[in-house]
Amino acid sequence: MTRIAVVEGDGIGCEVIPVARSVLERVRPDFETFDVEIGYSRWMRCGEACGEEGISALKSADAILFGAVTTPPEPDYRSVMVRIRKELDLYANIRPISGDGFDVIIVRENTEGLYSGIEWVEQDRACTLRVISRRGCRRIAEYACRIAGTRRNSLTIGHKANVLKSDTLFREICLDTAASCRVRCSEQYIDALCLDLLMHPDAYDVIVTTNLFGDILSDAAAYLVGGLGMLPSANIGERHALFEPVHGSAPDIAGKNTANPVAAIKSAAMLLEHLGDARNAGRICEAIEVTIASGVRTRDLGGSAGTREFGEAVLKALG
Ligand code: NAI
Ligand code: MG
Repeated sequence: MTRIAVVEGDGIGCEVIPVARSVLERVRPDFETFDVEIGYSRWMRCGEACGEEGISALKSADAILFGAVTTPPEPDYRSVMVRIRKELDLYANIRPISGDGFDVIIVRENTEGLYSGIEWVEQDRACTLRVISRRGCRRIAEYACRIAGTRRNSLTIGHKANVLKSDTLFREICLDTAASCRVRCSEQYIDALCLDLLMHPDAYDVIVTTNLFGDILSDAAAYLVGGLGMLPSANIGERHALFEPVHGSAPDIAGKNTANPVAAIKSAAMLLEHLGDARNAGRICEAIEVTIASGVRTRDLGGSAGTREFGEAVLKALG
């Protein structure tokens, strides 16, 4: 029996994930889904955002469907998402962005860089350690090359090696890995890449970059497809896999039934593909396209459909 852990999390996570879950359960009624409570609301309730039993529950699943968690700007609150990615060693964050005439995959290193979690506050300054390890570079570069090999065999490295020693290492290992995998490789400084990806998305295939840069690049790239409500992602490790929208908990629109559930539903499709069910993943993506083309859209896409109504239309399109 395939077991899927479901974390709604906070804010619009509690609205988009039930929709994604109902789509998943429609195409795979044989899957067992179970809830894991993680996030800021749990912290408010019991003083802990994620317990050890939560981590164990995630580890026990064949895959995880995740909404979003709020990280409040409180000094003692540590990001739960960063902790989960580290504890499950979900080192590859895969963010596909496709539209009219372009099809790009951002491969973001997901466990180190500026999100190393190694931070301290001194009297007159606060420090965050940017950690770039050989092993971390090697495995994300190999992952990106494997994906490139199944596509146009072309890789772009996004870095800032002109300023950062840590990115000099990242760059060298990526170039070296691409050469040994026989993947065509180019490079760009991450700031210039942010602009060029928006202007010429058709020029890119697979982009590999470090943790924070990939975070920023993928949010910016959402501009190409109508906003954050559209982008799914996969967090992949050797033993575990977690699928979540790129967006966060969006407290500004939470509880209003206006959030776009496409990113969450597409994340469920990525989950299915990861588990070897490309057929149903494709069916789900088609149903989303049919629904949007029929004029059923949430507010961010210029429509008036609610989160739940959009979900019902997708279920209907699935037949
Ligand atoms: P956000 O992605 O939640 O929202 C940014 C903007 O996009 C907001 O105006 C929001 O209304 C809009 N938006 C996002 N998703 C949407 C959707 N599905 N449909 C329509 N509009 C959508 O980012 P923000 O505001 O910077 O962060 C809010 C909270 O989420 C913070 O506490 C942050 O730490 C957390 N966060 C959590 C993530 C995770 O759990 N993986 C990822 C990013 C942020
Ligand atoms: Mg982000």
